[in-house]
Amino acid sequence: MSAPIATDPAEAARRLITGQLVALPTETVYGLGANALDVVAVSKVFSAKNRPHFDPLILHQATADRILTYAHSVPDAAQVLARVCWPGPLTLVLPRRTEVPDLVTAGLPTVALRVPDHPLTQAVLQLVDFPVAAPSANPFGYVSPTTAAHVAAQLGERVDYILDGGPCRVGLESTIVRFDGPEVVVLRKGGTPVEQLEDVLGHRVQVQTQSSSRPQAPGMLMSHYSPGIRLTLVARAQVRGTERCAVVCFGADRPSGPHTFNLSPSGSLQEAAQRLFGVLRQLADGPYTEASVELVPETGLGRAINDRLRRAAV
Ligand code: TXA
Ligand code: MG
Repeated sequence: MSAPIATDPAEAARRLITGQLVALPTETVYGLGANALDVVAVSKVFSAKNRPHFDPLILHQATADRILTYAHSVPDAAQVLARVCWPGPLTLVLPRRTEVPDLVTAGLPTVALRVPDHPLTQAVLQLVDFPVAAPSANPFGYVSPTTAAHVAAQLGERVDYILDGGPCRVGLESTIVRFDGPEVVVLRKGGTPVEQLEDVLGHRVQVQTQSSSRPQAPGMLMSHYSPGIRLTLVARAQVRGTERCAVVCFGADRPSGPHTFNLSPSGSLQEAAQRLFGVLRQLADGPYTEASVELVPETGLGRAINDRLRRAAV
């Protein structure tokens, strides 16, 4: 039986408290939430997603004060980012406290923490006295969901409740950073642009998004987000899409037509980020065997968009 899709945060909280799996809207993507301190509930998250146990989960709570209690220590740079960027699309990897189960952190000495910015999920988090572990609510390796319908289509039979908060505002997963002495290192490009981190900190950050099979942020496996058809990255698409080969493009004066997906005709990277995963799903669900995909400008959110396009094309 497919999970109810509804809008009651109190019911979502009640279900989390009793160890159930609840899909939660965030500003980035929908998460598959469970009580992070309940290993039975957390193990259900891994099996629902077919997620390998070496891939650790992000913990969520409503405020910086509440979530940072799960970090053993918080460097100054992390304090600054937490104060300025939370609630928001940023995840901080910090030394963990021992009460965080090994299952959540994949045995790592660190834990990933985030305060999401969505009113319904904020309401849920206020009602529970534990952190909520929530990976993106998609089967492992697939595109993250940005609507409740996306969750229902793929995990509807495997979750207990889907909290419908509408389409996600950002549309890309959070940016993940870790701290290496005084260095701030980006492990995953996401909804908080690297430029914004540098503005807040007043210095440069390193970007270390890797592509090996056991990377530091294992969700960054090179082949991820695949729509299951061959994607070819092009600088500029010359023709419109066909039933065989779709075209994904960006900006004004681009090809148009039924099989041509313009991520943002007005050239807005924010709009392109919002639409990206929905378009990848349309490629997967359409008649296509391949697609030509234009990269977007490599700046701001565009860096995270291009990262996802490159991984989808592997
Ligand atoms: O926007 C988001 O971050 C969404 C929403 C639901 O919050 N969540 C999300 O979770 O994208 P997930 O599980 O799909 O991706 C989390 C990433 C994975 O790549 C995981 O390897 C990495 O975070 N991660 C978790 N704990 C880590 C740690 N201690 N050190 C390094 N990477 C970690
Ligand atoms: Mg994910």
